[in-house]
Amino acid sequence: MEMTAMGTATQQAIQLEEQYGAHNYHPLPVVLSRGEGVYVWDVEGNRYVDFLSAYSAVSQGHCHPRIIGAMMEQVQRLTLTSRAFYNDQAGICNQFMCEFFGYDKVLMMNSGAEAGETALKLTRKWAYKVKGIAPDQAKTVYAAGNFWGRTLAAISSSTDPSSTTDFGPLLPGYIIIPYNDLTALEDCFKSDPNIAGFMVEPIQGEAGVVVPHEGYLRGVRDLCTKYNVLFIADEVQTGIGRTGKRICCDHENVKPDILVLGKALSGGAMPVSAVLASDEIMLTILPGEHGSTFGGNPLACAVTVAALQVVQDENLADNAEVTGQIFRDRMTALSQKTELVQSVRGKGLLNAIVITERPDLGHETAWELCLQFMANGLLCKPTHGDKIRFAPPLVITEEQMHDACDIIEKTVLAF
Ligand SMILES: Cc1ncc(COP(=O)(O)O)c(C=O)c1O
Repeated sequence: MEMTAMGTATQQAIQLEEQYGAHNYHPLPVVLSRGEGVYVWDVEGNRYVDFLSAYSAVSQGHCHPRIIGAMMEQVQRLTLTSRAFYNDQAGICNQFMCEFFGYDKVLMMNSGAEAGETALKLTRKWAYKVKGIAPDQAKTVYAAGNFWGRTLAAISSSTDPSSTTDFGPLLPGYIIIPYNDLTALEDCFKSDPNIAGFMVEPIQGEAGVVVPHEGYLRGVRDLCTKYNVLFIADEVQTGIGRTGKRICCDHENVKPDILVLGKALSGGAMPVSAVLASDEIMLTILPGEHGSTFGGNPLACAVTVAALQVVQDENLADNAEVTGQIFRDRMTALSQKTELVQSVRGKGLLNAIVITERPDLGHETAWELCLQFMANGLLCKPTHGDKIRFAPPLVITEEQMHDACDIIEKTVLAF
């Protein structure tokens, strides 16, 4: 399938968005209007296999009938109360989530950044109320290359200048250490008794799918326990089956003190995020001290239960494991045929290839390659210059995965 030149409908939609929308993104020139399973269609009627899944939010596939069904059912009954009242969906959803992930309590928010920020606030509260750190002295540690959103609290830990430049002053009380370095982590913990928490992605997604060495998460768990520091796992991107397990920390059988989730919690139907923790941590925040108008609304709760049930009932983590291995095997074989593909890395269905930049294109190589993938019916996006992330919905079948790998292979070899 070779897409035709940009049609009028595409051009008009892009022009309108460029004229009236802020320019805070740089999208591929494709205008989508429909999605089903692993496929999306543009306004010209062209079909694409979606290898980005809204940055891992649409793990259950576009417009999953069970999730949309639950949403439709709830949307006609009750969408939003205020948290000044109870609603009949929150308790059911909270219980479901606590049992699903193995925690005492959950606090629901909307975006991943809000959930990360909630985790940070909980960590500070715990530092003062439980650990006994003096007022306003608590510090939190992050790994270089981290990404947890665009709010000021989130970018204050960023090491990417494009996230922070001209947005200062940033939040105090942050310490940055190298990723995947247990010695640096222990040195840091040893050096400062005011450290309250270490927030880390089990695989750094935005940084280009950076997978730490085996044993890293176990090491983080042990050091956090040894120094009485909270282990906060940011599984907004890696959680809910994406890497082939329920959460990525399950690969090393470790349980974070605070688990941060978002994205696929709703299967992409609406913004839902959550923080899970023990009573000791969660109950440090008292009524009136934290919240959100939309956090834990009945619509979000009904959708979340359905979205997690789909992950469970359709064995999506197992499918991610199997189809992800096919992807990496095919890409490894491809890397032996062309220098353009330097390496492939990832776990489950969170993968990336590192490409060799063509001298004539330089930093534009990955972008130009993604344009060619698009022309051949596959959507994905470069991340950090020379990496292309591939994260299709977890409902992808083996046959669909092979078809997609055929597109990638054909495109790369013709590039
Ligand atoms: C690991 C991680 N944490 C947090 C976030 C922020 O989520 P949101 O964009 O919903 O605020 C992201 C977004 O990509 C992420 O990848």
